[in-house]
Formats: sequence, structure tokens, C-alpha cells
Amino acid sequence: MSKIITSIKEMQAQSAALRAKGNSIVFVPTMGFLHDGHRALLVAGRKMGSTLVMSIFVNPAQFGPKEDLSAYPRDLDRDLKMAEDEGVDIVFTPSAPDMYPDGFKTFVEVEGLSNTLCGASRPGHFRGVATVVLKLFNLVMPHKALFGKKDFQQIKVIEQMVKDLDLPVEITGVETVREMDGLAMSSRNSYLGPQERTAAICVPKAMEEARKLVDAGEAESRIVIEKVKKIIEKEPLAMIDYIRVCRSDNLEDAPVIDEGSMLFLAVKVGKARLIDNTSLK
Ligand code: PAF
Repeated sequence: MSKIITSIKEMQAQSAALRAKGNSIVFVPTMGFLHDGHRALLVAGRKMGSTLVMSIFVNPAQFGPKEDLSAYPRDLDRDLKMAEDEGVDIVFTPSAPDMYPDGFKTFVEVEGLSNTLCGASRPGHFRGVATVVLKLFNLVMPHKALFGKKDFQQIKVIEQMVKDLDLPVEITGVETVREMDGLAMSSRNSYLGPQERTAAICVPKAMEEARKLVDAGEAESRIVIEKVKKIIEKEPLAMIDYIRVCRSDNLEDAPVIDEGSMLFLAVKVGKARLIDNTSLK
């Protein structure tokens, strides 16, 4: 049985005791409503240390005022079953008032990386992510932490924070897990109705076409972006937020495609905002 800890103080005390005994703590932070993408993080994490901790916390600080905080899907019983199946030792489920008590005033801002791509469409999002991840690191005190590569920008922001603030934790990115038809797994896919679910395939399809174009010798990002745009625009239920080709190291636009270039997309289908990315070479 995974141990469930809700108290911040208890989590910190437990982690300090585990560390004192020489355990290596591996951490998978989540917002719950787990899917096979989370399972892949847990499976990889289980092999990386002696104690596997997963947090479930829908972090209000990373949602904008008009976003889906109250609608965000939740299913704690199902999540606990997956935790159990994947050998999670501790499930940490703090409450929002404990994480952000009255008078909370400190936020972490990772400049630059936080303001492009999803950060441009969701102002304050990565400030909320960096803040909660730093708090969770201080509570769980992990040696290692795992994040999914679907949220590539999130990994970059966290890596930068870890570097700048000298946090003693090693970050690992885990490959995106996809449905049979290529759609990246996401808790928010549950917002998609049947027609929208079919429409959502335009995202992995466009990424595949982009890769084919580059494989065939296209090196101009502008041409690749145009092709991706055309494919997505053919789908009447899809609304493009952004399509960009950026360098994977600093997320700056890459006009010419090389080994470090990645395609990043955000597309709204119904209530779901789908994000995805792929290397182009
Ligand atoms: O990727 C997520 O689920 C969240 O952004 C995270 C890292 C758990 C922080 O709330």
C-alpha cells in the first residue's frame, strides 16, 4: 500500500528521516487524473532510487483567472490504484490552503523561458509552475525528479530554476506517451467529445507531415510551419494558438532547421488546449 501524506510538516519530516537513513528519493510531481504518460514516469522513477514519491496537487497558482482550475479532472481513488500498481511508496496530497496560506507572498520567476510559447498565451503559468515545484522540492527533498517531455517548456523552466538556485536535484525528462493514433496523452484530453477527439488527430498528423518534409530535405522553418498550419486549418474544430520551430536549448525561434530544432504546437479543440512537440531532425 502506498502511504498517503497530506500534511506538509509530515512530508518534510518523513523525507528528512528517509534521507538520514541513506534512502535515495525519486519524485514524480503530478496534478492527478493519471494516465499512461504518468505511468511511464512512475515506471522509470521506480528504477531510479529506493523511495518513490508522487505528489497529487492541482496547483491554483499555475491557472489563469479564466482557465479551468475548478473543472480540472480529478479521480483520487483511481490515482491511488495506479500509485499502488506502480510501486509508489508515498503519495503526497497537500491542500491548497496549506500550500498557499493567507499572506503567501513569494513566487519564482524564471525569466525569458517562461514568457515564450505557452508562457505567452498563459501569462503567469510558469511562475506558478516554478513556485509550486520549488515548494514541492523543499517538502519532498528528492534526489531525482521526473517530468514528461510533452511539457518540454516546463522541463526547460525547471532545469533553469534548478541550475540558478543550486537545487540539489537531478531532473529527468521522459518521452511522451501517445494514444494509438498519435495523440499525446494528457489529463485534459478528457474534455474532448467524440467529434473533437477525432479532430484532435490533426496535431500528431501535422507533426508527422512536418518531420516528413524535413526528412525530404526542407530546412526552412517558415515552409514547415506553413505546411503544419494548412493541415490544422483544414480541421474546422481546431483553433491554432501557436506553431513555432524553436531551438531546444533556449526555445528561441530557429529560422533554419538543424539537429537542435523542434516543432512546438498549441491547438485548441473544444475546451481542450492540446500542446505537443517533436524534434525535426
Ligand atoms: O505537469 C504538471 O502536471 C504540473 O505542471 C506540475 C509539474 C505537477 C506542477 O504543478
